[in-house]
Amino acid sequence: MTSPLPLPYRVGYGEDAHRLSEGRPLTLGGVPIPHAERGAVAHSDGDAVLHAVADALLSGLALGDIGHYYPDTAEENAGLDSRVILQESLALVREWRYRPVNVALVVTLDRPKLGPLRGDIARSLAALLGLPETEVGVSFKTSEGLAPDHVQVRVTVLLVRDRD
Ligand code: C5P
Ligand code: MG
Repeated sequence: MTSPLPLPYRVGYGEDAHRLSEGRPLTLGGVPIPHAERGAVAHSDGDAVLHAVADALLSGLALGDIGHYYPDTAEENAGLDSRVILQESLALVREWRYRPVNVALVVTLDRPKLGPLRGDIARSLAALLGLPETEVGVSFKTSEGLAPDHVQVRVTVLLVRDRD
C-alpha cells in the first residue's frame, strides 16, 4: 500500500453488529456477560466490541477492515478468539509507528443492563490495547425496542504517531 501521510494524529472509526440467539454466550470487550439470555451469532466468537475496535484501528490508517484479513468464509477462522484479531490489528498499526491513545465506544443492546460491567469492559479493553483504563470510554444505549434482536457497537479511536 502507499504510505499513509505521517500525520501526528489519525482518527479511526469502526462498527459491528451481530444477531442475538438463545443458547450462545455473549462476550463484549473480552468480558463474558453473565445473565445474558442470548449471545451473538457469528463465525468467530462474535465479540462485537473487539471487532469494532479492530476495525477502528485499521480504518485510522486506511488498512482495510477485519473481513479483509479474517474472511468469515475461511474455515480456519471458525470460533476465532477475537482478542487475536485485535492484537494483530494493533500490530499492523504499530508497523506504521502509530498507537492508540484513547478509545470511545457505544454498545447498543436492549438487555441485559451493562452499566455494572462498564469498569470490567474498560479494564479488559485497556489491557488489550496497552492503555490506562481512564483512556477507554464505554457507553451503553438501548435501541428503545427498535432492534431487540441484535447487539451493535460503534467505536472511535485516536492514534498518535511515534516520535521520530
Ligand atoms: O437507551 P437509553 O437512553 O434508554 O439507556 C439509558 C441508560 O441505560 C444508558 O445511558 C445506560 O446508562 C444504560 N444502559 C445499560 N445497559 C444497556 C443499555 C443501556 O446500562 N444494555
Ligand atoms: Mg463481528
